[in-house]
Amino acid sequence: MFKFVLVAGLLATVAFAAPLTPEEEEDKREMERIQNESAQYSFDSNIDDGINDGTLRREETRDGTKVTGSYSYSDGYVHRTVFYEADENGYRVIKEDTKEIGEGPQFNADGQADVEGSLIGKYSIKLDKDMEDKHYKDIRS
Ligand SMILES: *[C@@H]1O[C@H](CO)[C@@H](O)[C@H](O)[C@H]1NC(C)=O
Repeated sequence: MFKFVLVAGLLATVAFAAPLTPEEEEDKREMERIQNESAQYSFDSNIDDGINDGTLRREETRDGTKVTGSYSYSDGYVHRTVFYEADENGYRVIKEDTKEIGEGPQFNADGQADVEGSLIGKYSIKLDKDMEDKHYKDIRS
């Protein structure tokens, strides 16, 4: 009985969801455009777990159709902060700051270092010699 009522209810919902007229579509788009242009928020969060290398930061601000923000996390050998913005033209990374943790990764004779982060687990990296800057390759298979 319950199944029948549920199916009948779903069918009724589909039957009564008539398509919008072009004018209603236009009104809906206009309403959405106004909502988008007046949207505003701002938030941040911060987990300061320096003991377990689990520091996480995030902040974001929206003003109309433009969103800007940043997030920070640890790779186990480097602390990254990524700054971004998003608008009508999509999402873009503006800047990325990296700061080595402690002495940085300790490479063996093969140029490989084993690293570990509380969020990312244990893995190995290799120095990418093709890059001008110090750049590490994650060599998990
Ligand atoms: C409003 O913004 C959303 C994304 O936040 C977008 O998908 C949508 O197309 C926008 N609507 C209008 C009418 O600009």
